[in-house]
Amino acid sequence: MGSDREVILREEEIAARVSAMAGEISRALAGTSPVLIPLLKGGFVFAADLMRRLDLDVTVEFLGAASYGEETESSGEVRLTLDTSAPLAGKHVLLVEDIVDTGLTLAYIQKLIRSRSPASLSTAVLLDKKARRQVEVELTWTGFVIPDRFVFGYGLDGPGGACRNLRDVVALKDERLADG
Ligand code: IMP
Repeated sequence: MGSDREVILREEEIAARVSAMAGEISRALAGTSPVLIPLLKGGFVFAADLMRRLDLDVTVEFLGAASYGEETESSGEVRLTLDTSAPLAGKHVLLVEDIVDTGLTLAYIQKLIRSRSPASLSTAVLLDKKARRQVEVELTWTGFVIPDRFVFGYGLDGPGGACRNLRDVVALKDERLADG
């Protein structure tokens, strides 16, 4: 790993929290066969780890969202880049997202899913930058509340669009570099 980076959450710490969340989710959704929806791109690594720890029969659908704007700052204008392939009506939907910042992306996606009349909607988010929230969003399960820093790895996009494959969640030591 480059020495310009600092580890925010280690692989082992993430794995332990994901296991604990999976236990909570399995208990809460016991008796249902939820449709798990990783929100792409960032949510796929967390979703892959989480779903294999769930003691539930799940099906999987994908939703893709991107927000217009600067690389490190969401504009609030959300663009759907991929839609689900099966109807969600009457299904128990478990939405899985990597990080909530302003909340605008998740609020948009939750509204979209609700408009399709699921039996229930719950949301699992790995990272919450609580201090940055602009709109209220309902998070059913949260992995970690983190400070207002640009983080990447474990599925999250880094500076220049790389580093999603890192096992840890990291940040740049000098965050001014993230803009360049
Ligand atoms: P929000 O709409 O402001 O809540 O932003 C959510 C989206 O912005 C996430 O799905 C990520 O794609 C991206 N994002 C927000 N903060 C970070 C970060 O620190 N690193 C990488 N992506 C981020």
